[in-house]
Amino acid sequence: MTIPWAKPLVNKRDIQYLNKAVNSQWIAMGEYVHNFEKRLKKFLKVNYLGVTSSGSAAINLAYLILGLKPGDELIVPGFGFLAAANVAQTLGLKVVFADVDPHTFCVNVDTIKKVLSKKTKLIVVTHTYGNMCGMSEIVSLAKRKKIYLMEDAAQALGSKYKGKQAGTIGDIGVFSFTATKTLTTGEGGAICVKKRSLYNKLILYRSYGYTKKRYYCIVPGHNLRMSNLLASIGFSQMGRLNSILKKRKKIYSVYKRILKSDKFSLQKFEKNISSIPWTLSIKLNKNFTQKSRNSLISELKKKGIESRNGYYCPNELSIFKKKYKLPISSDLSKRVISLPIFEELKVKEIYYICKKFNEILNKWIYQ
Ligand SMILES: Cc1ncc(COP(=O)(O)O)c(C=O)c1O
Repeated sequence: MTIPWAKPLVNKRDIQYLNKAVNSQWIAMGEYVHNFEKRLKKFLKVNYLGVTSSGSAAINLAYLILGLKPGDELIVPGFGFLAAANVAQTLGLKVVFADVDPHTFCVNVDTIKKVLSKKTKLIVVTHTYGNMCGMSEIVSLAKRKKIYLMEDAAQALGSKYKGKQAGTIGDIGVFSFTATKTLTTGEGGAICVKKRSLYNKLILYRSYGYTKKRYYCIVPGHNLRMSNLLASIGFSQMGRLNSILKKRKKIYSVYKRILKSDKFSLQKFEKNISSIPWTLSIKLNKNFTQKSRNSLISELKKKGIESRNGYYCPNELSIFKKKYKLPISSDLSKRVISLPIFEELKVKEIYYICKKFNEILNKWIYQ
């Protein structure tokens, strides 16, 4: 048995829609882009949203519409997928990392406050692994300080905080539909904004910097659009999104029931969060080192189970020049491991993963 960590599903219905899009010959922009956006807006209960060529493109667009300039400072989580930091670097923005909570793996208002300065122009929170940050306190802080707040909800489509969809609470929310994500168009993303004025800019910067008057650029824009072909898959998947979300929740609950060991703890979801787990993320106990965590990943691989290590701490990556004070992020980068969750994962496969994981850990001799 080989179980991948993630497996995209483009089902028969998705392919039918893709065929319709191809046959329409509208292969760049087209009606599926519009219809996918409409369905996403309805699902998220937002007024202003645009789909993009990737989650990173959505982040890039966010920085452009906010008018961030080289040297402008933004806060980004020290643990998590680092797209927000990477894209910021390409634009010459100054990234300041906030540490995360050791149990939720997400930033909170206190870790943000520690690195907040008069120069902070934007706070980016990442809802890592489908968990969500404590948004009420973070929103209040951002409002009080008059700083923009962006949620990177790439891994948290469908997760809710106090009943509100991830990505819809801050000024801007971004999503990714790359192959491993909850909803996938292969490559793709989306950005939603609260203000109409930001939406107008989004339309402008997403498409060369001009709107109605062809070739007449008002701002230096990109092409960050999604193609009609990929949007047709997204449109189709929206039709079964609620069932995908239910499956992910069910998979998580089965894992939670069977995985038993004092050698690890699961990522913590606070009470006011209804999470759609993107992966089953685990923090191994203090006796594990980065090396032994990696050996565990190899042992699982021998049993046909693909797992993934936690994200590297920026301090380990040479693209970030400064050494930051990120003790928790650094610790998580060594001890986090994540197990498969995807739409088609079967209960018997979860049982197999848990059995092997429990067996390996029970016999584990710390190295
Ligand atoms: C949290 C997060 N943000 C942003 C991205 C970037 O999205 P994309 O791969 O669509 O560019 C990803 C990754 O895939 C992600 O996991």
